[in-house]
Amino acid sequence: MEKMDIHIVGLGNLGSAFLKGLRDLIEKTDIYLYEESEDVRQLIQENYSLTPKESVNMISKGVLILCIKPQNINEFFDIYKDKIAKDVLICTPIAGLEIKTIEKYLENNVLRIMPNLLIQDKTGFIPFTSNYEGDYLNFIHNILENLGTVKEVDESMFAIVTALSGSGPAWFYELSNQLVNAGTKLGLSLKDSELIVQELLKALPSLVHENETFENLVNKVMSPGGTTEAGLNSLNNASFDTIIFEAIQKATQRSTEISKELNNE
Ligand SMILES: NC(=O)c1ccc[n+]([C@@H]2O[C@H](COP(=O)([O-])OP(=O)(O)OC[C@H]3O[C@@H](n4cnc5c(N)ncnc54)[C@H](OP(=O)(O)O)[C@@H]3O)[C@@H](O)[C@H]2O)c1
Repeated sequence: MEKMDIHIVGLGNLGSAFLKGLRDLIEKTDIYLYEESEDVRQLIQENYSLTPKESVNMISKGVLILCIKPQNINEFFDIYKDKIAKDVLICTPIAGLEIKTIEKYLENNVLRIMPNLLIQDKTGFIPFTSNYEGDYLNFIHNILENLGTVKEVDESMFAIVTALSGSGPAWFYELSNQLVNAGTKLGLSLKDSELIVQELLKALPSLVHENETFENLVNKVMSPGGTTEAGLNSLNNASFDTIIFEAIQKATQRSTEISKELNNE
């Protein structure tokens, strides 16, 4: 099988998560890296023995994965659109960037995805939508399916998917952070409190199954009149459901706002 050229532009949090996730696909891929920050380029060189370039020269085939911030994307296309051949698949995980915005610059096939950082350990969730039929270059099957669970989603759902899944790890890490804080306020050392929550978080996935609801899992931990029920009652009295709903709603709205900004609406 011919190797696939994969060009990753931007090697910050997500670009380096891609790189980590792809590390064992060396036989299937030729990886080309681009990063503006000299410090980051040096870090990649030290950790992966790969030499990123400062900027794109010419991309004539394969896949271009754009891992730069939304605010940099219009400038990127203004500068580089003529250096990207028509056959190149554009893969964009950029929050809020709609396919129609890219189509203003390029006629290429575009695959919009919204992964999270867990792709680095091949346990990501990767919703996708595209402006073409089928699996162009077999990129979804040969590459993305190696990085986690892949699912086609209508583009109109991307803002909510971005809030739930793209930002998803942050909700659980913030909850964990607050649990650690509660433990220390109630007398545990920071070290012990962190250890307890870390161990808890690492063990939780074993109980998560497709045919088990989260509500059921909560009920399994809770017994009437017990400690968990006391805590859950306190959460309910403090409108935990509303707090979470509003956070996801705000994140969804921000994604929609970014789409409008990028599309000059
Ligand atoms: N982080 C996540 O969990 C996550 C999840 C899903 C989607 N995303 C999306 O992924 C994108 C990247 O997020 P991130 O968190 O990885 O951001 P980040 O850590 O800021 O990384 C972006 C990197 O790209 C570099 N860069 C900017 N313009 C460039 C160019 N023209 N050529 C080469 N390098 C360039 C930046 O360098 P300078 O700092 O020097 O500009 C920076 O190092 C965003 O659009 C975000 O919406 C992120």
